[in-house]
Parts: sequence; C-alpha cells; structure tokens
Amino acid sequence: MFDRLRKTVRPLTNVLRLLVDTIYAPTLFFLAGRKANGIIGHRNVASHDSSSSNPLESYFDSHRSGAGIWKWRHYFETYHTHFSRFRGKRPKILEIGVYSGGSLEMWREYFGEDCELFGVDINSGCMQFQKKGVTIKIANQSDRFFWRKFREEFGEVDIVIDDGGHRPRQQRPTFEEMLSCIKPGGVYLCEDLHGLKNPFVAYLRGFANTLNANSFNDVQAWVKSVTFYPYIAVLEILDRPRNGLSSERRGDHWI
Ligand SMILES: C[S@@+](CC[C@H](N)C(=O)[O-])C[C@H]1O[C@@H](n2cnc3c(N)ncnc32)[C@H](O)[C@@H]1O
Repeated sequence: MFDRLRKTVRPLTNVLRLLVDTIYAPTLFFLAGRKANGIIGHRNVASHDSSSSNPLESYFDSHRSGAGIWKWRHYFETYHTHFSRFRGKRPKILEIGVYSGGSLEMWREYFGEDCELFGVDINSGCMQFQKKGVTIKIANQSDRFFWRKFREEFGEVDIVIDDGGHRPRQQRPTFEEMLSCIKPGGVYLCEDLHGLKNPFVAYLRGFANTLNANSFNDVQAWVKSVTFYPYIAVLEILDRPRNGLSSERRGDHWI
C-alpha cells in the first residue's frame, strides 16, 4: 500500500523539486546575495520624466501627442545598449508591428534622417505610414514565403525588431527566415517574451546553447552573443565570422 502511494506521489514530488531547482532556488540564491550586499532592500523606481540620459526614453516621455508608441519602459535601456552604434550610420531597420506608426517615427529620430525603415504589419491600415524612407508591407509575419520575397526585394538589414503578434508561432518563422538577412555586425531583437514556459524563449535558449557545443558550428562562427533581458532577447551577429575557437597558452611557468 505504501509502495503504491510512493509510486503515485514520486513523479509529483520530482516535478516540484525540478521547479524549485530551476526557478525558485536560483532566484532565492540571487536575492539572498543581493540583500547581503545591501543592493536591494528598497525599490528603485524608474524615473518617468524626460530628464533621462537615454535619447529614446526622452523622446518617448516628451511625445505627448501624435502617432502612438507603446513600449515597456525598461526596453529603452536595452535598445540603447545594442542600437547606439548604428546612429547616424544610415542603417536599414525592419520593425515588425507598426501599430499606430509612432515607433517608426521614434526610430527615425534616433537613427537619423538617412536611415531606411521597413515596417511590416498584418493591419492594412498601417499603409498610411508609408512615405519617403519608410516602406510598409502588409503581411502575416508567420508567412515564410513573405519573408523570402522580402529578402529578394530589399536585401539585408542592420536591425530586426520583432514587436508584432508576439506569438511563438509567429516569432519563430520570422527569426528563422530573417536571421540570414541580417548584415554582419547586425542585431535581432524580439520583444514581449512573456512567461516561464514560453516556447519561443525555450527555442532561443536552445539556439544560444549551441554556442557551447564541443564541435565548431555555424552559430559559433557567426553569433557574437545572445542576451536575455526581462521580456526581450537580443542576438548580435559578428562583423566577421570566426573560423574556429581556440584555447591557447602563453607563459612558461606551469604547475
Ligand atoms: C504591440 S503592437 C506594435 C507596437 C509598435 N511597434 C509600437 O512600438 O508602438 C503589435 C502590432 O503587431 C501587429 N500584428 C499582430 N499580429 C501580426 C502578425 N501575425 N503579423 C504581422 N503583424 C502583426 C498588430 O496589427 C499591431 O499593429
């Protein structure tokens, strides 16, 4: 009887243990360390005025009228970290998810008048935002055939920002079709990755894990980094591919 009970309960306790180990234990461990160092203990609430030294955040805060922009506030820091080197360099930017057109205006202000913007949205009403320097395409981002045509028509871009439908079944085809369309040195950024069991996050983690493979592969050759932030993942492509990874020694004193 006890044996039967143990057999029934064991899978459940194993699942619970796994959950604690993978999610809560690292979190608690991290928080304990921070508290010990006096780093947390009070909430550091982000300033919501326009005095930010981040030009995107300042733009957002001073944008009181006109085309709507919808952003999580903490995204501005990530954008500026990965995008600032493209400012004034006439980059080609693709944003999936145009909505009310405000973010395309923000990118123009940030990257400079000569940047080339592409907006893709499923809503045909977004065509109204097409103008000189801004190409709008109406499509479903999960349509791989659309991305192949896009690549043929417009070639490589410097930055892909996926702020479209936010569903894994939309994000994955976009990523898979557009990764090879990002210029060397370029950036892919995907927004609104929510949930501890998000399948696209799991997929990206698997992709990132390829960086640790023992046999040299294309991801190690081309990918500089995969970085996860709250609700965003960013992938940077190297300027030039590596042709291998080598572990080397210098010096002549060894123990
Ligand atoms: C969060 S809004 C974009 C916000 C905008 N980038 C901004 O910062 O203000 C998401 C947009 O994605 C579009 N969208 C939803 N599903 C899509 C799909 N499958 N393919 C392309 N666009 C889609 C919606 O029509 C909507 O305009």
